[in-house]
Amino acid sequence: DKVVLAFSGGLDTTVCVKLLEEKYNYEVITVCVDVGQPEDELEKSQNSADNINTGKHYIIDAKEEFANDYISKGIKANAEYEGYPLSTALARPLIALKIIEVADKEGAVAIAHGCTGKGNDQFRFESIINAMSDYKIIAPIRELNLTRTEEVKYAKEHNLPLSSDKRYSVDENIWGRSIEGDILEDPKNEAPENIYAWTASSEDAKDTPEKISIEFEEGIPIAINGKMMPLIDIIREANKIAGENGVGRVDTIENRMIGLKSREIYEVPGAKLLINAHKALEELVLTTSELRFAEYMSTLYADLVYGALWQEPLKEDLDQAFDNMQRRVCGKVVMKLFKGSIHPLTRESDFSLHSVDQITFEDKETDQREVEGMIKYHGIQAANFQKLNQ
Ligand code: ARG
Ligand code: SIN
Repeated sequence: DKVVLAFSGGLDTTVCVKLLEEKYNYEVITVCVDVGQPEDELEKSQNSADNINTGKHYIIDAKEEFANDYISKGIKANAEYEGYPLSTALARPLIALKIIEVADKEGAVAIAHGCTGKGNDQFRFESIINAMSDYKIIAPIRELNLTRTEEVKYAKEHNLPLSSDKRYSVDENIWGRSIEGDILEDPKNEAPENIYAWTASSEDAKDTPEKISIEFEEGIPIAINGKMMPLIDIIREANKIAGENGVGRVDTIENRMIGLKSREIYEVPGAKLLINAHKALEELVLTTSELRFAEYMSTLYADLVYGALWQEPLKEDLDQAFDNMQRRVCGKVVMKLFKGSIHPLTRESDFSLHSVDQITFEDKETDQREVEGMIKYHGIQAANFQKLNQ
């Protein structure tokens, strides 16, 4: 019987290949879904797949789809869970769908993943697989209750190829990079500088501020510094520029799905730049009521995406509400980046609800006296209440 394994070439999934063969007696087909992890990671996944001699190895390029159908929704929603722009969480549903496709094609009987029993990713993979297919699910690391040390030992005993430094568990795609494990687990420990790969520390960031313009069409970035490009390229460019300026480090105590608190570190420079620019433009074009409601929707949305409820109908309802609101989120924002800080400098839009003529102190057209009557009745219930006890 065949099993299809979501494979990255990292420690967990490498160990899973052997376990699935040895302990579960499956023929293992590995699939690495490319959502923009670095080139050498993909190569590594290919090499280690070759090395451990799996039946077949697929590399599926899902980068554009990830940008256009997943990250774009995250941008429209300003989706962040406790300050984390959901890079891993957004990618998991897509990876699971691609794995199901391969399982169908290969006539597999089961799907396997390398998640531990403590994290969120197990929920994300399995809720999609359960909702969209009938495959049996195998989670060897969780089922055998393995620790990381036991995994390394098993890998060594079986001569499995491991890249040199397996101290940290890193998950990376174009929307961000997450680093966990080892000394990072204890919040008393400062994260060492060498865990960071995409962002400069504020000390090492450029010494001069950088201005960067982002243009949006219906809530989606379409140009960066005046150059039109596909979303995926804008994200890459945003990652580079913001990272050089020390923007996008998140070091947080995260509330995981099973309730555990976890110290999590992310590098999300592009996401922080694009979401901040997007918010700056929304402030100009959306009404007060829309902004309040969008903020509430954003929290709900992030909780659904983080919490493995991609298939929840509310998620689609929210997507539609966002799409409708985003029709006016068109225009240009210039952001200033400097040693880890990020601010909007200018914003402009054809759909701006802001009027210089109305707000200016120099205006005589809007008669200030007209507001007197409004003030008289504003808060009349509160005034009546306060007078009750006098
Ligand atoms: N805590 C983050 C999340 O839930 C990151 C998970 C990283 N996953 C991994 N397999 N290293 O999205
Ligand atoms: C894991 O436990 O497999 C990775 C971390 C997570 O899923 O949150």
